[in-house]
Order: sequence, then structure tokens, then C-alpha cells
Amino acid sequence: MHKILILLAAGATLLSANAFAVERGELLASSCMSCHGPGGKSKGAIPSLAGLEKAYFVKSMQDFKSGARPASVMHRHSKGYTDAEYALMGEYFSKLK
Ligand code: HEC
Repeated sequence: MHKILILLAAGATLLSANAFAVERGELLASSCMSCHGPGGKSKGAIPSLAGLEKAYFVKSMQDFKSGARPASVMHRHSKGYTDAEYALMGEYFSKLK
């Protein structure tokens, strides 16, 4: 009985893993929206994040964090996140139109 429950739980986890990543990414990204616009769509000079390719997003954040990519404010705003969290945010932004 226990084995069956574990299998069911594992199946449900696989199914919901992608939705979970997007939700978690949305939460992590909520502090970015003040500059990058609601839903990652910016109306001003700051680039929009909605629809960015995940790999490009993750690389950008890593380069801001290391200082390899020049930035005005993004050096500061890229700090405090792990690569796994960049991946979650990238998943979220890539899903936005
Ligand atoms: C204070 C305003 C501000 C906040 C908050 C902010 N950003 Fe930025 N972001 C910018 C600006 C301005 C740029 C252009 C690069 C620069 O000058 O730093 C930028 C550039 C970027 C880029 C590069 C986009 C591209 O098309 O190459 C990414 C990715 C990015 N930000 C992600 C984020 C994420 C993720 C967060 C939240 C953790 C965030 N930003 C929070 C202002 C902000």
C-alpha cells in the first residue's frame, strides 16, 4: 500500500513540476517587476523580460552577478540568487508573452 502511494505521489510530482517551477519563478521575480514592468513588459527604456529565452536569461544574470556584463543597476539586482533560482525565473519569463 505504501509503495503504491509513493508511486502515485512521484507521478503527481512529475506532472506538476513544470507548473511549480513557473509559480516559484513568478514569486522570485516579483521584485523585478517594479523596473521591468508588470508581467515583465516594460514601457520605458528598461528592457522587457517577458518572452526572453531561458538560456539567455540565465546567462545574463550570471554575467551581471560576476560583473562580466556591464550594467548600471543589474549588478546589485542579480546578487542573492542561486543558479537554480535563475533557472526558475528564466522558466517563468520565457513563458510570458
Ligand atoms: C532598479 C531597477 C531594476 C530592478 C529592480 C531590476 N532590474 Fe533588471 N535591468 C534594469 C536595467 C536598467 C537593465 C539594463 C542593464 C543595466 O543598466 O543594469 C536591466 C537589465 C536586465 C536584464 C537583461 C535584459 C536583456 O534583454 O538583455 C535581465 C535579464 C534583467 N535585468 C533581469 C532582472 C531580474 C531577474 C530582476 C529581479 C531579480 C531585475 N532585473 C531587477 C533595471 C532593473
